[in-house]
Amino acid sequence: MRARTRPGRLAAFDRWLSRSEQPLLAQPGVVVDVGFGVSAVTTAELAAALPAHHVVGLEADVARLEAARREFPSLDLRQGLDALREVRNVRVVRIANVGRALTKDDVGALVREALALVVPGGVVLEGTTDVEGHVSAFHAWRHGEATPRLVLHTDGARGFSPWLFRDVLPRALRRDVRPGTPVHGLLSAWAEVWELNRTAAPAESYVRSAEALARQRDDLDVRHLAEGFVAWRSA
Ligand SMILES: C[S@@+](CC[C@H](N)C(=O)[O-])C[C@H]1O[C@@H](n2cnc3c(N)ncnc32)[C@H](O)[C@@H]1O
Repeated sequence: MRARTRPGRLAAFDRWLSRSEQPLLAQPGVVVDVGFGVSAVTTAELAAALPAHHVVGLEADVARLEAARREFPSLDLRQGLDALREVRNVRVVRIANVGRALTKDDVGALVREALALVVPGGVVLEGTTDVEGHVSAFHAWRHGEATPRLVLHTDGARGFSPWLFRDVLPRALRRDVRPGTPVHGLLSAWAEVWELNRTAAPAESYVRSAEALARQRDDLDVRHLAEGFVAWRSA
């Protein structure tokens, strides 16, 4: 299993939290990062992005955990979700690039375990990025709600077509990208609109096509599009 990570890879997750979860994060609490990998650098970045909160990084692999403790002695790093049973006031759990190595059922179980830890109204973000973090897609599950939102982000550095998101969809959706499914319907409709609105600049094509798509349907939230985010409410 690849466990590499790098600075900035999960910046879109952190920015989404800062921008869209202000009410939840207005009170200090605990934020958990599940599966930081070979280095806790993205856990340190999460802590820097949310300085009022206590961030706990989890890593199942003991050798990685010990190495990360030496690299970031000021971070609270522990082995697994079991280590959180006594922790109260968990407001957010981030699970990034962990699901790829798991089955769909195992990801579902991990998300349910994480949702059981968070406060009412708390969120669990579960999803994937490309290696550099230029393209991201994650489910935002809110405690107490039956279905998640799908949050998509790109900065345009890898070019843009709506199908770019196919490779980073959360584990639960990736195999659903086939005709007749809601996620295929979303990406197909977006691709049609994109063909009509594309320009030579990928980031501009992304924004213009997402705005045009949002005018056609009421399940897209483009309030944070200026920062590269589209949220789909019926995912
Ligand atoms: C590919 S790395 C992801 C690194 C980082 N989050 C990123 O996005 O770049 C996945 C890591 O998750 C860890 N992991 C998998 N399941 C876990 C669990 N239930 N609790 C803690 N760590 C877990 C693995 O050991 C692995 O190091």
